[in-house]
Amino acid sequence: MTNDSQAGFSTLSDLEEAASRKTDKSAWAYIQGGAGEEWTMRANREAFHRRTLRPRVLVDVENLEFGATLLGTKVSAPFYVSPTASHGLVHPDAEAATARAAGKANILATFSTLSSISLEDIAKAVTTSPRWFQLYLQPEFSATKSLVERAEKADYKAIILTVDMPVAGTRDKENQAGSPLASSIILGNGREVVRPLRNPIVDGDHAHIRKEASNTWDVVDRIREITRLPLVLKGILTREDARRAADHGAKGVVVSNHGGRQLDHAPASLDALPEVAEEVGSEVEVYFDGGIRRGSDIITALAIGARAVGLGRPVFWALAAGGEAGVSKLLSLLKTDLATVMALTGRRTLSEIDRSLVNNPW
Ligand SMILES: Cc1cc2nc3c(=O)[nH]c(=O)nc-3n(C[C@H](O)[C@H](O)[C@H](O)COP(=O)(O)O)c2cc1C
Repeated sequence: MTNDSQAGFSTLSDLEEAASRKTDKSAWAYIQGGAGEEWTMRANREAFHRRTLRPRVLVDVENLEFGATLLGTKVSAPFYVSPTASHGLVHPDAEAATARAAGKANILATFSTLSSISLEDIAKAVTTSPRWFQLYLQPEFSATKSLVERAEKADYKAIILTVDMPVAGTRDKENQAGSPLASSIILGNGREVVRPLRNPIVDGDHAHIRKEASNTWDVVDRIREITRLPLVLKGILTREDARRAADHGAKGVVVSNHGGRQLDHAPASLDALPEVAEEVGSEVEVYFDGGIRRGSDIITALAIGARAVGLGRPVFWALAAGGEAGVSKLLSLLKTDLATVMALTGRRTLSEIDRSLVNNPW
């Protein structure tokens, strides 16, 4: 436990503001920025602003329950820590602090291939914690396989394969500020792990991306063959890809546009959620991320078909602002806000959060 103080943080904006003061310029541009003109990043928030809720009144909301079961693991709330690279950019305790805060709150945390400390050290940071490993495909399948085997051995409960990054999106802000990931960032999982390629290599009339960009749906089958862990595909935005994910044996999908950091002009995650939920919601678990900042966002995404929702940037803000205590504060603020919104909409349990709660799900 660090001594970072939680005092003074009563909203997510407080955490963001404190983080902006403590974080260096290039790391801040990396965290906050999106792809291109950041249209998709803004759309993620605007999609929530366009929806309204249909509250029911005079419901007995004295006792609320929002514990969830995510791929068989019981957690205390239907939100989780999304996988994000390099927590060490904002706090010396890095992913260990995030893991401890999430573990103590019994919140699912998912950790990136590009973590600052190794996946084994993350696992050691807290004895019992629900955690999944996020996999980036490596140029050689043997390297991908080794990461999967390590995650399984270290007791991660699922593999989230991120499929929306054959190459990193064009991130203007990050490029202008000098991406911290382009330089000497520490990769906790070992020097042999590679980061996604920042730009295609243009050679005359041709462009090449690295070898991992040649993967197709077969890779999902190959990964399933080497692990008993359930596989979740992250970065699904269409009903067609959701269908293929289910047909290839994924146990879950994450509706996500990577926080608007990949394809600018991809739809807001919330606008893609209805078609994915409709296509595969009865067969696989549908997860969601992009723009979750409040209890009302959580409840809206759940109503439209998500089983649980992920938090990306807010975890960086909390970690930068207050280390482990900051992340604990973030999780408790969101739990309180979720409970408040459940009470105000007359929903006592997660199963009562259905489409009738949202005026305009589409
Ligand atoms: C700084 C940063 C680093 C990220 N790194 C990863 C990563 O390593 N792997 C991954 O699958 N997604 C990564 N993401 C995307 C998040 O998992 C998530 O999709 C997104 O942040 C959700 O949107 P939000 O930031 O609005 O909550 C990253 C996002 C940010 C902001």
